[in-house]
Amino acid sequence: MTKKSVKGFSKLSKEAKIEWIANEYLDGDEECVGLLKSYWHNDAKVQKIHDEFIENTISNFYVPFGIAPNFLINNEIFCVPMAIEESSVVAAASKNATFWMNRGGFKAEVVSTTKVGHVHFAWYGEYETLLGFFESIKHKFVEQTNDLTENMRKRGGGILDIQLVNKTDDEPNYYQLMAKFETCEAMGANFINSILEEFSKILQGELENSDLSEADKKVMVIMCILSNYTPECLVRAEVSCPIESLTEGTDLSPEEFAKKFEQAIHVAKIEPYRATTHNKGIFNGIDAVVIATGNDFRAIEACGHTYAAKDGSYSSLTHVDITNGNFRFWIEVPMALGTIGGLTALHPMVKFAHQLLGKPNAAQLMKIIACVGLAQNFGAVRSLVTTGIQKGHMKMHLLNIINQLGGTAEERKIIKDHFSDKVVSHKAVVDYFCALRGITQEELQNQNK
Ligand code: MEV
Repeated sequence: MTKKSVKGFSKLSKEAKIEWIANEYLDGDEECVGLLKSYWHNDAKVQKIHDEFIENTISNFYVPFGIAPNFLINNEIFCVPMAIEESSVVAAASKNATFWMNRGGFKAEVVSTTKVGHVHFAWYGEYETLLGFFESIKHKFVEQTNDLTENMRKRGGGILDIQLVNKTDDEPNYYQLMAKFETCEAMGANFINSILEEFSKILQGELENSDLSEADKKVMVIMCILSNYTPECLVRAEVSCPIESLTEGTDLSPEEFAKKFEQAIHVAKIEPYRATTHNKGIFNGIDAVVIATGNDFRAIEACGHTYAAKDGSYSSLTHVDITNGNFRFWIEVPMALGTIGGLTALHPMVKFAHQLLGKPNAAQLMKIIACVGLAQNFGAVRSLVTTGIQKGHMKMHLLNIINQLGGTAEERKIIKDHFSDKVVSHKAVVDYFCALRGITQEELQNQNK
């Protein structure tokens, strides 16, 4: 059947969209229709909220929502909500939270909370002329956006600074108005973008009405947009303990462990191949909490990776120092988060996540999330330099494999017991499963068709 294109799809009802997809793409498959509908929430009001988050919603897509308890952060315990599909992430966060709870916990601080945005524009005269003009009208950017910033100023935020940036060394005629903002508990994207668009109008209007030459009045605004790179919206989290306390459950001496751990972090600092995986593990933890708390994980990831490359080569977001037998491990990562606006007031699970965390403000949430990233990285590197990563990872993945094979509750118990002291691999589980059922692998494939 040829796949049909469609006009006005977004205007169809949800039922009609599903019917159209089923008819045009799925040979009218009623099972697929049933599947999509079975994922609708049984409370129509809740479903409507989800429907309206995006365009063309036809169903929901489940991701597990788990809890990592025992995060002791600045002497307060948190039960951290995490939304993620990867088997071992919540287990590792929980395990390492408990590990550090028993060693004094995490210390976290917000270094700064400044966000940034730009009006990117082209101008064709002498830089000095533009600079003089900019200085003479700079106050108008603030004055003429007072209405837009009023509520934010009442909350303690607003425009912090506006500068003219000369980028003509990189690109002919290219300049920026670079503005810095404090957006308090909001992530601030809409606030910042609205103000930047207003700035561009002010710039164009002031040039037009100036006594500059006709040539110097000419400006082309390229675009107005916040930057998701927020190196001045920065959080730092740290753990520390004597190296003797690190090796519980490992075969290594404290000195061996400390040396290997230190070298592993160093490898991640100097080798982008490793740094990428190292930081990916950090974002396993960060993203899961960012998603559960209704924040934009793409923005947080993009920013973190740019920050990881800020010194000219992609590098580790975590750092270690071992001096006089004391182990200190920390993360420094930018994180532009919001605890009001966006999904935070709409998504019932997001609301629950904020409630569970004690309704943190943005700075508190930055600290919690940085600690989860640090815990995740500590757990990964600790496993990597001791047992290897597959032991813990495959143990968690075991249930997925048994589910894929269609194991019963009884088989599941037997298989879990069997592998409790063995290395789990996909092949080993399939072999054992077949032996348990007394079938060949071919018969298994036929059973699961
Ligand atoms: C897997 O999702 C993440 C790790 O690869 C991270 C790491 O290697 O540090 C375990």
